[in-house]
Amino acid sequence: MFNTNFKLPTGCFPLKFHQMPERIQKPPCRWRKEIAFILISQEQLARRVHALARQIEKDFAGRDLVIVALLNGTVVFLADLLRRLSLPLRLDFIGVSSYGGGTESAELVFTKELRLDVSGRDVLVVDDILDTGKTLSQVMIKLRKLRPRRMKICVLLDKPSRRVEPVRAHYVGFEIPNHFVVGYGLDYAERYRNLPFVGVLRPEMFQHPDFIPLLSEKKRLLLQGVKTTV
Ligand code: IMP
Ligand code: MG
Repeated sequence: MFNTNFKLPTGCFPLKFHQMPERIQKPPCRWRKEIAFILISQEQLARRVHALARQIEKDFAGRDLVIVALLNGTVVFLADLLRRLSLPLRLDFIGVSSYGGGTESAELVFTKELRLDVSGRDVLVVDDILDTGKTLSQVMIKLRKLRPRRMKICVLLDKPSRRVEPVRAHYVGFEIPNHFVVGYGLDYAERYRNLPFVGVLRPEMFQHPDFIPLLSEKKRLLLQGVKTTV
């Protein structure tokens, strides 16, 4: 059974980039046993995505823009962002997965390669979350070899406290503390991508027997470094 005496967190607000709610928001009843609290609500996401789109439109006006999104975590954020962009653009995807080698420096495997030609073009790389930076640093190395005119990175979430590689995103939705978050495309053991908000998973879910066999080695390693004292 789940622990129902779970205490709501203190001291993790405010987030730096954009104002977080003054009071903690409870998730809808259906999710309360799994999600401790809503970190970013649907309304906050919508407002911020709108603002990011305005900025991107301004910066890429008149350019030949190619959006390169990383699968699978970006899908919800990307779909909302795209519909807010009134620019001529093309879209392609890169699939990245980490090889379960059992070490923190697990190797990245590209599960889907880029098909569009980006040489001489402006590229906007879109990802769900910038954590250690290992994924995006390797993706950028790979893309640079294709000789784009310029490349910028857009992420919905940034956890700067976890950074290992010196990667910087040009467009950041929300800078967040070191919590493991799910929803709005982000998963835990491939679940929760469909939540319309970004929520913090209850720490007891990390030990849940239904999920352990589904976790990739990378997620397991990532969780070892995550605050579970929320
Ligand atoms: P990085 O290579 O460490 O920057 O990891 C980036 C990837 O790790 C993201 O694209 C996510 O797939 C995953 N990730 C990092 N933090 C979280 C989180 O809090 N929730 C869900 N996935 C995460
Ligand atoms: Mg990802």
